[in-house]
Amino acid sequence: MSVHSDQALGPVAAVVILAAGEGKRMKSSRSKLLHQIAGHSMLSYAVTAATTVQPEHIVVVVGHLRDQVEAHLAEIAPHVRIAVQEQQLGTGHAVQAALTQLAELTGDVIVTLGDAPMLTGETLAALLEEHRSNQAAVTVLTAEVPDPTGYGRILRDTEGMVTGIVEHRDADDTQLEIIEINSGIYVFDAASLRSALTELAPSNDQGELYLTDVLSVVREAGKPVAAYVIDDVWQAEGINDRNQLCRMNAELNRRILQRWMSEGVTVVDPATTWVHASVDLAPDVILLPGTSLEGATSVAAGAQIGPDTTLIDVEVGENAVVTRTQASLSVIGPGANVGPFAHLRPGTMLGAGGKIGTFVETKNARIGAGAKAPHLSYLGDAVIGEGANIGAGVIFANYDGVRKSTSTVGAYDFVGSNSVLVAPVEIADGAYIAAGSTITGDVGPGELAVSRSQQRNVPGWVARKRPGTKTARAAEAAQEQQAADAAQQKEPS
Ligand code: UD1
Ligand code: CA
Repeated sequence: MSVHSDQALGPVAAVVILAAGEGKRMKSSRSKLLHQIAGHSMLSYAVTAATTVQPEHIVVVVGHLRDQVEAHLAEIAPHVRIAVQEQQLGTGHAVQAALTQLAELTGDVIVTLGDAPMLTGETLAALLEEHRSNQAAVTVLTAEVPDPTGYGRILRDTEGMVTGIVEHRDADDTQLEIIEINSGIYVFDAASLRSALTELAPSNDQGELYLTDVLSVVREAGKPVAAYVIDDVWQAEGINDRNQLCRMNAELNRRILQRWMSEGVTVVDPATTWVHASVDLAPDVILLPGTSLEGATSVAAGAQIGPDTTLIDVEVGENAVVTRTQASLSVIGPGANVGPFAHLRPGTMLGAGGKIGTFVETKNARIGAGAKAPHLSYLGDAVIGEGANIGAGVIFANYDGVRKSTSTVGAYDFVGSNSVLVAPVEIADGAYIAAGSTITGDVGPGELAVSRSQQRNVPGWVARKRPGTKTARAAEAAQEQQAADAAQQKEPS
């Protein structure tokens, strides 16, 4: 739409989003409109599309489970107005409720549905342009679909002009043959809408006031009714049950992946790769099968994620490799290596070139550049310096049953395998911890801390306590061999 035509016709007066219905077919205690596709509520897509056309007002009509819907809107779109439809007496009744919020309205009013998440702002703008160029009183967005079951059908006269809409359940056999469906998305002239709404009657199978009847009322009043047929049929489709939710989620995901692939991301298996609408990827990222990227996750150039990895609100640096990992609210530095089988919990920050390896769990752990915890560890409330080496099986014991405390490991420290650091302890830079130590006190720079009992060997124990066992026989054989070796060494050569 050109700036010029925008100015000539003025901005859109209002977008009304219908979100009061019960959504029975979802069989859910949660409002249908809060169910998610590609990581965001259905309703959030409707609000985003509405916002694109910069209307003076956005009104969301709420009713069924309105507490849930209002709380959600307060979070994602505090700027929208709420109209309450106390009883859900139909889509026409819902628009009446919206108009009570918009007393002096003139100009274009767009009505959209809370349950049509594929609709884009660009389509709304195109619909508006069509409406304005035809100087219509109503323009409905329609599509021709292979299976029109359940949708309202577009009725046209012999000249092809739209005469009205008939709901599936009210349609006769001939009308059921029509494959052009009503998307439920329209532009109305405000005055025509207002007067037509007063003429609606609940003379249909559901006994409701149908917004769809506005078209025939307007047409009978001699005003032009138009349709804008969209090729991308997905945008005209609504979600009424979990099967449609699943289909639409898969389609939106497919589109998201397609866009990322066109921007230089490799996706090995789109069927098992899920990327939320809010995720950001750079060129040369590689996504292996079974990868799910959610929330505010971002992945920098050249990083490889997967297989079988879920990242929620995670920032991944350039060229990092993250394999079979679950991570949330974490930062993985450039060139770092994570997994396989790692669990990064909130507050994990892995420095450049660092490593969190196999069966390692981290939480609130700041791990310096080049530091490594390759095997079988728990790093909770940990600060680990640059280049430190955390041996296999090291545990940061951060919880004494009452409070959590932080322990610090210094730069280039070696923490021996199977050590326990009982928080809070501070290990200075350049220190060693002997394997198997239980560390309860601080360690200074350059020191070796050994905290375990001295080894004691009891000779002949096996022969006395486990006589006749395979172990005892193995011991005898080994002792005989030792004696023979010793005798041979004594012989002069
Ligand atoms: C509606 C249309 C149908 C169209 C289809 C497109 C009517 C009568 N039918 O049917 O022609 O093909 O959408 O998806 O308009 N709502 C309210 N208050 C109510 C009833 C519904 O706010 O009293 C809201 C719902 O929350 C939903 C939307 O309106 O967001 C559509 O309602 P729904 O019951 O899903 O209508 P459909 O049977 O799908
Ligand atoms: Ca619907």
